[in-house]
Amino acid sequence: MTPPRGEPSIRPEFEEDIPGIRTLHRAAFPTDAEAVLVDRLRADGDLALSLVARLESDVVGHIAFSPLKAPVRALALAPLAVTESVRGQGIGAMLIRTGLQYAAEAGWQCVFVLGNPAYYASFGFSVEAAASFDCVFAGPHLMMCALGQDPVPSDGTLTYAPAFSAL
Ligand SMILES: CC(C)(COP(=O)(O)OP(=O)(O)OC[C@H]1O[C@@H](n2cnc3c(N)ncnc32)[C@H](O)[C@@H]1OP(=O)(O)O)[C@@H](O)C(=O)NCCC(=O)NCCS
Repeated sequence: MTPPRGEPSIRPEFEEDIPGIRTLHRAAFPTDAEAVLVDRLRADGDLALSLVARLESDVVGHIAFSPLKAPVRALALAPLAVTESVRGQGIGAMLIRTGLQYAAEAGWQCVFVLGNPAYYASFGFSVEAAASFDCVFAGPHLMMCALGQDPVPSDGTLTYAPAFSAL
């Protein structure tokens, strides 16, 4: 039986984490598109925030945020992945909550995500809040989470970082 491995630590990525991040996304998604996306965002200087969850020295979770061109200081959350063997233990939630906290502290006003509303609603993301924004990913899976007390516009155009055009 595998012994328990303790609590994961969440922190911004270091250079040493990059191979583990790549391996994680390749395993978590059907193609290597998300792994390539993260590499391209990093190479383009568009990885505004990149957090890893580590258990001992293994990268078992990763979340990325990149700037959007928008009428508000907005980030896009993508991608998010957790190693299959440690899913369902709250690591995804820890990455999202820590990411939103870092983003708020850095002065970002809101975060958009494309995902399953059933998963993201509990973190403050709302389909309704994103519904009037125009972007290539507009639809029933686009959500927005406001981060502070400042009013956030309810519509406008969102342009994702160039790395997303390859998806
Ligand atoms: C989505 C993901 C990051 C969640 O990681 P995690 O560490 O298991 O997340 P948590 O432990 O915080 O939450 C798990 C809960 O979310 C639920 N959940 C996970 N993915 C979900 C989804 N797509 N839609 C709805 N619920 C989902 C699980 O059923 C579980 O519910 P439970 O606690 O009631 O059993 C992980 O499943 C993953 O890497 N999936 C593959 C990559 C992916 O789809 N990424 C998201 C792209 S938007």
